[in-house]
Amino acid sequence: MSFKTGSVADIAAIAAMVERREVGYSLEAPFYTSQEVYDLDMKAIFGQYWLFVATEAEIPEAGDFVTVEIGTQSLIIVRDDEEEVRALRNVCRHRGSRLLEEPCGAIGNLVCPYHQWTYRADGELMYAESQSPSFDKSKFGLKQVHVRTVGGLIFICLADEPPADFDEVASVIEPYLRSYRIAEAKVAHQTDLVEAGNWKLVMENNRECHHCDASHPELITSYFPFLRYDESDITPRLQPLYERYLKATEDLDNVCKTNGVPRELVHELDTRETGFMIMRLPLDGDGASFGIDGAQVCKKLIGDSPTPQFGDLSLHMQPNSWFHFLSDHVIVFSVLPLGPDKSMVRTTWLVHPDAVEGEDYTVEGLTSVWKATNDQDRVLVEKTQRGVTDPSYVPGPYALVEDDVEAFLNWYVGRLRDYLEPHRESAERLGHLNAVANQ
Ligand code: FES
Ligand SMILES: [Fe+2]
Repeated sequence: MSFKTGSVADIAAIAAMVERREVGYSLEAPFYTSQEVYDLDMKAIFGQYWLFVATEAEIPEAGDFVTVEIGTQSLIIVRDDEEEVRALRNVCRHRGSRLLEEPCGAIGNLVCPYHQWTYRADGELMYAESQSPSFDKSKFGLKQVHVRTVGGLIFICLADEPPADFDEVASVIEPYLRSYRIAEAKVAHQTDLVEAGNWKLVMENNRECHHCDASHPELITSYFPFLRYDESDITPRLQPLYERYLKATEDLDNVCKTNGVPRELVHELDTRETGFMIMRLPLDGDGASFGIDGAQVCKKLIGDSPTPQFGDLSLHMQPNSWFHFLSDHVIVFSVLPLGPDKSMVRTTWLVHPDAVEGEDYTVEGLTSVWKATNDQDRVLVEKTQRGVTDPSYVPGPYALVEDDVEAFLNWYVGRLRDYLEPHRESAERLGHLNAVANQ
């Protein structure tokens, strides 16, 4: 199937694909391969919903910033002089130059490299040379986008009117995140991994552990293999392991109860605009962290963790992020699309601000399991991208344990449907496109 760039017929063809998407099946190939669907994703998904972009730990002081690229849009996430987190458009109001090219750093004021228009860290224009006497500086501050922080995690929304349910979601997840004190944490390491795959394949791969046994030998040593199991699945061989799991679960229940920490699973991946899921899992072996056999990877616990055996608090947010909160460190992941068949996974490891490298942790010890896991996932995503590009590919059925992949796609397809609603009529009028699409 090929689209002509951006035409009404293209949009109608995509709307037709959205309408005929079969529940429980992967998507038709153009969703993963076409420039037109990618362009639509950038508008209908990344341009409309709350996106996780950074942690407050990355910009601890006034003037600290990170830049984030969302497709062709560049944002400066900065802490202003009043310590407020802002998301400024990285586009000078004079003639449009990029202001900052660096991925992170610190500024006093923001000075445009082209003709030196100078902005405060809150985006207000302070200085513009040689303008006419009637020039009104107050009208040329940097444009800003919506920004919210929850438990030290920074989210932005590029839409004029962001989804209104964010406060509700924030009020649910904040009590889970509070004890980790992310805003005060120290960034121990960050990686940007470019994968030759569509962003949805990266997310789909993240939303299931059906592949973990075969692909993640390091990671699975920390996990019990009982997610979505019921007792009838427990064979005699698994019984001792299952009993250990029950004991770890009970211990984790007690730790949460004693410390007034929420424990229950909240699964709202496809039941609201700001889709999310949060759960706390007990870990096997030492039960502490992502070292081999659940070992701690930082001697100093993070935030107010009451015990090393605090489980893995796992948070998934639509459309582009996931998080693991352990007793001794936190790992945050965001997926930034770079093209129909290219995505970047940014991974950041956080530790207690007083944790000392070489004494409490080593970067190698802290990061090796998830560096290996990310790379193993990259290979899986890239193989799938090559597969869905093959003309013989047709959507295939998800296993029962892949229900969160379905939840991800159900959310995605629902959001596209909302966005495309105005085009439905032309899609129906151009009903023959179904036939064209299948050629
Ligand atoms: S484009 Fe920024 S000062 Fe001219
Ligand atoms: Fe994986």
